[in-house]
This record gives sequence, structure tokens and C-alpha cells, in this order.
Amino acid sequence: MVNRRTFLRRSGALGATALATFSPRGLTRALEAAAGVVDRSPEELASDEFYWREIQAAFTLDRTLVNLNNGGVCPSPRVVHDAYKRYLDISNQSPVYHMWQILEPNIETARRRLAAHFGCDPEEMAITRNASEALQTAQLGLDLKPGDEVLTTNQDYGRMLDTWEQRVRRDGITLTKISFPVPPPSLADLAQRFEQAITPRTRVIHFCHITNLTGQIFPVRDICRMARGRGIATIVDGAHAFAHFPFKVSELECDYYGTSLHKWLLAPIGTGFLYVRREKIAGLWPLTPASESKKNDIRKFEEIGTHPAANHNAIAEALTFHEGIGVERKVARLRYLKNRWADRLRALPNIRIFTSSDPAQSGGLACVGIDGTDAAKLTAHLWATRRIIVTPIKHPEYEGIRVTPNVYTTLAEIDDFADAMEAVAARGLPPTA
Ligand SMILES: Cc1ncc(COP(=O)(O)O)c(C=O)c1O
Repeated sequence: MVNRRTFLRRSGALGATALATFSPRGLTRALEAAAGVVDRSPEELASDEFYWREIQAAFTLDRTLVNLNNGGVCPSPRVVHDAYKRYLDISNQSPVYHMWQILEPNIETARRRLAAHFGCDPEEMAITRNASEALQTAQLGLDLKPGDEVLTTNQDYGRMLDTWEQRVRRDGITLTKISFPVPPPSLADLAQRFEQAITPRTRVIHFCHITNLTGQIFPVRDICRMARGRGIATIVDGAHAFAHFPFKVSELECDYYGTSLHKWLLAPIGTGFLYVRREKIAGLWPLTPASESKKNDIRKFEEIGTHPAANHNAIAEALTFHEGIGVERKVARLRYLKNRWADRLRALPNIRIFTSSDPAQSGGLACVGIDGTDAAKLTAHLWATRRIIVTPIKHPEYEGIRVTPNVYTTLAEIDDFADAMEAVAARGLPPTA
């Protein structure tokens, strides 16, 4: 009889050897059957603490802290971290041989498997060190002339906006940032805002698949189709989307997509990918120059000089762990955790939740504010009194704290957070906060 603990152990232990004989889909089905969860819907399983207890135990966490800032960067499960350390040890035996000749060529396995998850050809998938590197490759690699316009939002990620601002100063392009309410009235409203802001000079639309500030999911396909019809390129910032909720690139229809893998995939810190639509590869300059012979090769975006092979090779182990849960189950659990605190707090008159409860518009990441309460002080209070980690969001149009649980978060941790927020909503912050 195979119990769930055995399932999890195996989902780590099977790893590379099993994959030599099973396809990822076949392996996933085998693991699901072993775990006895194959007949249960993701929503049903989302509240099965027996199942999630096993996932929680797969991490080596510091449980004296309640980490509700998984939007920043995430811990890897033990099996992934072990693989990462193992590859580092192997590399160090004789890096010119063990790292360059033994480990480095296996980046192709990570590429193939990531591409299968994303739904693209492996020849459209470059492995990067993070979402910033992936997105900046697209942002800085496009030929743009003075006066060309880039359209984005004023809730896009700061570093990505800084990157465009640098092109404004250096290349004389124009940057237009649209505003949108949180939550917006509808997904169609978001698409319309972009459409209405387009001018004859618009060359690029850059936006988040899901924002880091409030967790708003965008209608990516509608925006990309509309842009393509007008000859406008689309760059999608998927830093928080990949391995958070299910989708394939065929449902997005974007030209360029960048993500981090050290967030929701739980891969080692320093991993990400860049997708470039095949016909766009030749025309995009890499961030670090590559030889002309690589013009049409997606690997030209990986010419970064000497770097550890451990990070990108351990992506394979992170994918195996991810497949062991399944992305539908993962997002169902994340929404269950979010709804557990959000539904409780929503009932209070002075609480503002800036994230839609519509599953088409949000996953596990949400932003909440208490009227008249400074978000930085609230963050400091949660840390000082209960060792709860959240992050303050101070946008010119709203203010709150961002709350991001993960698959390892317990119900007790969520309830601890909700208790603390209820107390502040009722009595305010203590004068010392
Ligand atoms: C929306 C968004 N884009 C890009 C990034 C950059 O990710 P990284 O720091 O992994 O490069 C982040 C990081 O939090 C983000 O939230």
C-alpha cells in the first residue's frame, strides 16, 4: 500500500532515473495514482489537510516565522535544494570537466521540460537567471527609434519601468503608463484601457500576466491579439504566473514572455526563462552579445559567461516536484488559503481588499489595506508582535500589504494573520507601532 508520504518521497527520489523511462505526463499519472488523489477534484483536495501536511513536510523551513511574502522569492523543497547542492559539489571537483562537460549539456533537459510546461518549442525557450534578465533582454534588445512609444501600466514592476525609463533617457523613446482601478470592473475594462491608449507611434505593449502589487490577472490574449492586429509587439511579465496557475503560451499569443522560476516553481534562487516567438528570435539583440552565427539560435540569450550549472539543472527537480502536485491542485490550494483570510476580513467595514475574488482574475496573491493605517507600520507591527512576514505596497492610488502564502503554509498560520489583522481593524495600531 503506497501512502502519501511515500508518494512525496518518491516524487523526489524518482526524479532523473524515472524520467529516463517515463514521459512527464506518464510520471505524473503514476504519482497521482500512487497518492490516491487521481479521482478528486483540485477544489476538493484544496481543503484536505492530510494531503497538504505531506507537502508542508517536504520543506526545511523556519516555522518560528510565518512567511506570507512568497511573492518575493521562495524556498525550494528539500529534494530541489539537495539536487542544487549536489550539482554544486560535483561542479567543484574539477569545474572545467565536471561542470562544463558533465553538467552543463544537461541544461537541454531543463529547456525541453520547461518548454513542454509552457507549451512552446524548446528552440523558443532561453534559460535566464531571473525574470529581470529575461524581460530586460526583450526591453533592451528591440530596435526602437526616437519618438517610438511603449505602452505599459503604472502598476508594472519597478525595475521593468526603470528599464524603459532608461531607454527614454538614452534613446529618446516615449513611455506611456496607463492607470487602472484595483480591482478593475472587468477583464474587458483592462483590455479596453490599452486599446484606447494606443497611438500611431505605439510599437510595444508591456504588461504583467499577474501583477505583483495586487495579484490582478490580465486578459493577455485579448491584449496581444489586439496589438498584433496593429503591428505592435507584446512583452508579457510573467514573473508571478508560471507554475502559479495553469496556462499555455498558445492561450496568450504574446511575442516575448519572461518569468522567474525561484518564485512559484520553487526552483533554486537565480533561475528564470525567456520565451521568444520563433520568428522574433533573429531580430532581438541579446543583452550580452553573441556571435553572428547564433543569430537565429535561442541560446544566444544565454551567452552570459561562466555561471553555475547547478541552478539551471536543478530546475528539472523543481519541475518533478511541481508535477507531483499538479498546477490545478496548487492554485486551488493557494486560492483556498487566500479566501480563508480574505473572506474573514472582507466582512469588516474598514478593510479594503484590492484583489478581485473572481478566480479568472486572481490566484494566491492578494493585497489588503486597513483604512487610515500606514502599510509600512502595519507590516512592522505584524513582524514585531507575531513574526509574520508580509510586504507593504504603497502606490500613489492605494496602500496596503501584500499577502502571499505558498503550498507549505498551514491553516494555523493563515488564521494567525487574520486574527492579527482583525485586532488592528478593531483597535488600530498600538501607539508605539
Ligand atoms: C511583476 C514582477 N516582474 C519582475 C520581477 C523581477 O523578478 P526577479 O527579481 O526574479 O528578476 C518581479 C519580482 O518580484 C515581479 O514581481
